[in-house]
Formats: sequence, structure tokens, C-alpha cells
Amino acid sequence: MKIQVNNTNISELKIGSLIEVTIQKFDPSIDSKPYFKTFSVPYTKEMRILETIDYIVEELGESIAYQWFCGVKKCGMCGILVNGHPKLGCWEPVESKMILQPLPHFKVIRDLVIDRAEYTKNLMAIEPEICRNNEYSGFPESLTNLQMNDAAKMMHCIECMICISVCPAVSKDFVGPAPLVQLARFALDPRDTGFRAKLAKKAGIQHCVGCYQCSSVCPTEIPIYQTAIEGLRDIIRKEETIRPVSLRDTLFSNFHLIAKWGYNFSSLSNWMTNNIIIKFLLEKFLKVDRRRQLPKYCAESFESWFKKRDMFQVDGPEVILFHDTFMNYIDPEIGKATTEILELLGYNVKLVEKRKCCGRPMLSAGKISQAKITAKFNVEILAQYAKRNIPIIVVEPSCLLTIREEYSKLLSGNEVKIVSSNVFSLEEFITKIVEKDKLSKLLKFTKTKRKILLHGHCHQKALIGMNPTIEFLSLPNNYEVNEIPSSCCGMAGSNGFECEHFERSIEAAEEVIFPMVREARSEVEIVATGISCRQQIEYGTDRKALHPAQIFRDAII
Ligand code: SF4
Ligand code: SF4
Ligand code: FES
Repeated sequence: MKIQVNNTNISELKIGSLIEVTIQKFDPSIDSKPYFKTFSVPYTKEMRILETIDYIVEELGESIAYQWFCGVKKCGMCGILVNGHPKLGCWEPVESKMILQPLPHFKVIRDLVIDRAEYTKNLMAIEPEICRNNEYSGFPESLTNLQMNDAAKMMHCIECMICISVCPAVSKDFVGPAPLVQLARFALDPRDTGFRAKLAKKAGIQHCVGCYQCSSVCPTEIPIYQTAIEGLRDIIRKEETIRPVSLRDTLFSNFHLIAKWGYNFSSLSNWMTNNIIIKFLLEKFLKVDRRRQLPKYCAESFESWFKKRDMFQVDGPEVILFHDTFMNYIDPEIGKATTEILELLGYNVKLVEKRKCCGRPMLSAGKISQAKITAKFNVEILAQYAKRNIPIIVVEPSCLLTIREEYSKLLSGNEVKIVSSNVFSLEEFITKIVEKDKLSKLLKFTKTKRKILLHGHCHQKALIGMNPTIEFLSLPNNYEVNEIPSSCCGMAGSNGFECEHFERSIEAAEEVIFPMVREARSEVEIVATGISCRQQIEYGTDRKALHPAQIFRDAII
């Protein structure tokens, strides 16, 4: 269902000016499908979303089912979707045009009211009470604030269901983030002696793809992925009950090796990945959905293109380009565009040929020790540059955030910190590090007008935000960037390739991204920062999405 709303800024709303509120209505006892009804509501000072529904019910006499209780962000009853984004209705300010819908992923009881029965069932299954084998030592127990720190963070959960509504991995096999937050509340309590690893696996924690969406939307700012999910995963590792790794996980986690072979025999591998019998076999034995288009390997890798330019040296400050597996073997044009942009700005671009894959696919498959070895190897190499303040540019958001965020969880020491603070996305580097003077002196942009529809990668949205990318793409004066108000594209790394997640992956994309891309006119450029997002867009809409570096390079004259 398309959610695209052009809104005036809240500060531009005048007391008494009319707000357009469209509400999704649905009564399963009489309606065959949901429908929308639009109302005009006069703006009042500091008006919250919930007040517009109150007005429609009380002043306009419309019957609408909606829920709230505390009115002050404490009870979690008022979660709704506002213009495609989940919000607490009692807390968030109004927008001049709003489409209000029930939170997705839940059965609708009526209009905006969701059925929480599934959550309650899942909550009971995680045994939400402290289990103690040790005798109660009496009050006060010898516990420090620090020991209770992580468990205490979980106590801020108001059970609003907002995190579940954005989770791309929720399925019949995975209860989603909110029940895991409750489980972590007990599991991270040092007094608890319950077998939490078993319960976490039963809840399907292995299906979490680490997209950080839950953490970025939680209204009480619980670090859901970082503390609850990673904390539970630590307990699983300690109890040595890590999930058995399937052949598919092993292959996905070693994609860097597959890609290298795939590239070396690209004619054969590109034929194979398109062959219907091979696809059938992959589906039968590895559960890789045959409807997915597997990646196509390029004819000349980025590394070999780059080597041919060895004679070409810009006499300027050095930057390291971390050429990820996808850039090297699948989409070298992104690497070429990045190199050319940096060189036009006078940088001497260098590659680290011996670097390994960042390790993200290993982390997603739960192969932590393999990821640790990879991280250690990369940190040792990258630290040599970071210590000399040479910036390291990473263009694929999940690789960037693995190096910046995940490495420091896997390794300790100073080197990892230095590397982490010295890696940048191209967009961050250009908009935050390169001096503005240099940009305007060295780059001349086309005068052509261009409209860009931008989809952000989950990891990027949760941990960096989209501002650097929007600012970067807006540097050419006549470029107009519109961000798709989407959450996850549904791919969540390799998740969307897996038979058991394929349908859900498409459903997630059909919520916002696919309809908006399909409706975009052909002259509108579709841009996505992540490779899996670009694959998903191409699969579902037949439109090719580009990386921001390609658009930017193309704008330079
Ligand atoms: S963890 Fe946050 S988003 Fe999820 S239910 Fe609790 S308060 Fe809501
Ligand atoms: S990190 Fe992503 S996949 Fe994992 S629980 Fe949160 S939203 Fe779901
Ligand atoms: S009504 Fe309680 S959180 Fe909104």
C-alpha cells in the first residue's frame, strides 16, 4: 500500500489551520478489506497525533477503534503507523497530512487496534520470571548497578509492539524483538540461572538478521539489537549451544570465496546461476528460493581495473578504498565511480589488496569465531593506515558498519578503536571531512535537473542516518532527493534468498518500496546504498537502482 505524503513543516502549521487525516478502517465482521476515510482536523497548539483521532470521534461523530491509556509514553498502547512510520500516537506531534494505519505484522481487531494475543503467547513461552537455583541471600542482595545495567535497560520496555512492526525477520519461526527484550531482561540479570539459551533459540533468535531496525525505532531507546539480542547470543555461545550451521549458512558466510571462483569462471557461473535445473537443485538441497536472481559476476574485477591504473598516481593525500567483495566481483562500476570522485578531489586512492571480506556474512550466519579471525586480520592491516590518519572509505553500508561497530565487539585493544574511528562512507567523507572550499573549487556539476528516489539500507538508517547521503546527492544544485519512507527492503542480507523467508521478504518490499518505485517516472533515478536493496528493487520492479557514488560521479562535468 503506497504511503507517500508531502508534508509542510510542523512549525509552519498555524493554530486553526486544517490537518488532513486519513484513517485506515476495517471491521472484519462486516468489511471484506480495509478502506480509507479522510477528515479535516483544526490544528491546536502542540497537537499530538492521538488528539486528531479524539477530535474525529468526539467532534465529527465518526466511530473509530483506537487505543491509548497513559497519554505520556508509558503504557505502549497507542502505537500506530503514521505515514508509513511506526509511532506512539500520544507522544508524537501531528503532521499536516497524515495516513494512520494499524501496526503491520499483527492481526487487526478493528481499525487501528491490533491483536496482541500472539505476543502474549510468545511472552509466556520465554518464561518471563526470574529463575534462581541459588538461595536468596536476603535484602539487600550484593548486586552492583553495573551488574544490573543491561537487564535494567530492558525494563524500559513499554510493550508498544513498534519493534515487532518493523522487524523484517518476524515469521512463524521467529517471535521478533519484543519478546526477546523480555527474555533478555531475565537472562542478563546476574541472579538468573535459567536455561535462557534454549528459550532464545526456541524463540528463533537465529533468524534475526542484525538489521538494527528495532533499535532505531524503539521509543524508549532500548538498544534492542546491541544489548538484548547480542546479549542473548553471548549466552548461547557460552552455553555452547550455538545453532548447528547448515550447508547453506556455510556457503553464504563464505560468499567471498564463492564470488572469487564465480568471477574466475564467470561465463560458466553466470550460465549456471540462470539455469533452471541448477536453480531447482539449489532450492531442493539448499533451500535457496529459485525465484531469486543470483548475482551475476562481472567480466573484469574492480581490482584488475584498478591495477591497470598503477601508472596513474595523484600526488595528493592518501585514502584507502576498502573494496568489498560485491564491488570487486559483481558491481565494479561503484568502485570506479568512487575512485574517480576521490581522484578528482586530489586524493591518492589506494587499495588494500590482502584484506579479507569484512565478515558480515559470517556474523549473520552465527559463525562468530570465523568472523573474529577475519576481523583481527583486517584490523591489523587497516590499523597501519588508520594510525597515520589515512581515511578508509567503505561504500557498502553493512561492511562499513561491521568494521565500525561489530569489530569492537569482537576484539579488544586500541587498534580496533583507531580503525573504527577512521572508517567512513563515501557520503560521510565528502560531506563531513573534505573541506567545502575544495569541493566547490574542484568539482563542477551538470546543470541538468534530476530527481532521485532514495532507499536507505537498514544498518545505515539505524546507525548513521540518511542525512550524509541526502546531503551528498544534493550537492549538484539541480538534484532533488526524495527518501522513500521505507523500513527494511525485505532482503536483510541473504535472508530474502532463503525459501522460508522469500514470501515475507517480498511482502515487506510491497509495503512501500515496490509501489513507490513502480510509480516513479522513468526519468527519476532510483538509488539505494545497499547491494541487497538494489537486488530486491530490480527483482520486484524491473528498475535498476544505482549506488549514490554512481549518480554523483555522473553529475560531475
Ligand atoms: S522494546 Fe521498545 S519498541 Fe519494542 S516493545 Fe519494548 S518499548 Fe516497544
Ligand atoms: S535486528 Fe532486525 S531482524 Fe533482528 S530483531 Fe531487530 S529488527 Fe528484527
Ligand atoms: S497512551 Fe500510553 S504510551 Fe501512548
